[in-house]
Amino acid sequence: MNDFKLESHEIQKEMQLAVNRVIKSGWYVLGPEVESFEKEWAQTCKTKYSIGVGNGMDAIEIILHSMNVGPGDEVITTPMTAFATVLAILRAGATPVLADIESDTALLSMDSVRRCISPRTKAVVLVHLYGQMKELDLWKSFCNEHHIFLIEDCAQSHLATWNDLPGGNFGVAGAYSFYPTKNLGALGDGGIIVTSDERLSRTASSLRNYGQSVRYEHPLVGMNSRLDEMQAAILSVKLKWLEGYTARRREIAGQYLKNIQNQYVSNLSAPLDAHSHVYHLYVVTSRYRDALQAHLNGQSIQSLIHYPIPIHHQKPCLDMLRDPTGLSISEEHAAQCLSIPCHPHMSQGDVERVIIAVNSFSPHH
Ligand SMILES: Cc1ncc(COP(=O)(O)O)c(C=O)c1O
Repeated sequence: MNDFKLESHEIQKEMQLAVNRVIKSGWYVLGPEVESFEKEWAQTCKTKYSIGVGNGMDAIEIILHSMNVGPGDEVITTPMTAFATVLAILRAGATPVLADIESDTALLSMDSVRRCISPRTKAVVLVHLYGQMKELDLWKSFCNEHHIFLIEDCAQSHLATWNDLPGGNFGVAGAYSFYPTKNLGALGDGGIIVTSDERLSRTASSLRNYGQSVRYEHPLVGMNSRLDEMQAAILSVKLKWLEGYTARRREIAGQYLKNIQNQYVSNLSAPLDAHSHVYHLYVVTSRYRDALQAHLNGQSIQSLIHYPIPIHHQKPCLDMLRDPTGLSISEEHAAQCLSIPCHPHMSQGDVERVIIAVNSFSPHH
């Protein structure tokens, strides 16, 4: 699904230089490398501010704290996401409420969210799942109309745009993860918050660092979630390749969309606009998913399931509030989805091999 060892010599050399620079600087946490990467990432995201944090999950939690969303408040999100999205809401002390997804994109369904709204609803955490942003203008108006905050979980959507604006421009803020497998990945954990709200930006920078305002003064109860210099320096190097890598992901996805044709396997819908999807994952669905995965395995093609267990079937979440009509589309998607290889280091031969393997699948063999 990923092979970091295929990263070019050029990147490896630049990363080594960056690491040496940090070692020589004698400054390792929240310093000039972090500040410089924060500027670059805010520019990339077309937001006024960005705040480097420890990981993508903390980014969501800190945004919620910064907006005073906590105990007694409900936050609506999707059961088809990384557990971290919901864990961040729980850690903020708020109550997650799960809405169902659309069957053709696996993104959150606005109709279902509407059914989940109560007088206690304070926010929606919208996940740009698999790398796709969709109808963010509608989500923004929807949340404004209901007087709730829109928070964007952009952990999978680096460089995706809607109406030319990247994730984090439609809600109060966006939360990015730089976990190594993400489209922009560090050599360890990392995350960042982007926003154009000055107050939120100030609160979030204080919260990530023990709630400190100036040295040794702590007006807020914060946490320790700081981006370190080494990761920031690595991210600055890798950022230069992100656009090219994203173009390659889109090219591969384009070939899959066009050429995967098998009565037992379906592609998700093509995005409404080419720039709105960055294909962090390329997902197909099949009623015979497990047999399809075994068939691919048999041809030495890796695949993964994102996600096999919807959030409401996880042990701590069995009683979680949810759409009163149920979450059947999420359950069906979890039973049928399969992520097939889609990463920038794949050769044309690799892509063709995947297409041939998927097309030759039959559950009856
Ligand atoms: C949709 C989504 N949200 C949040 C996260 C959390 O990011 P991190 O692993 O950096 O905490 C991830 C990554 O696993 C993710 O895929």
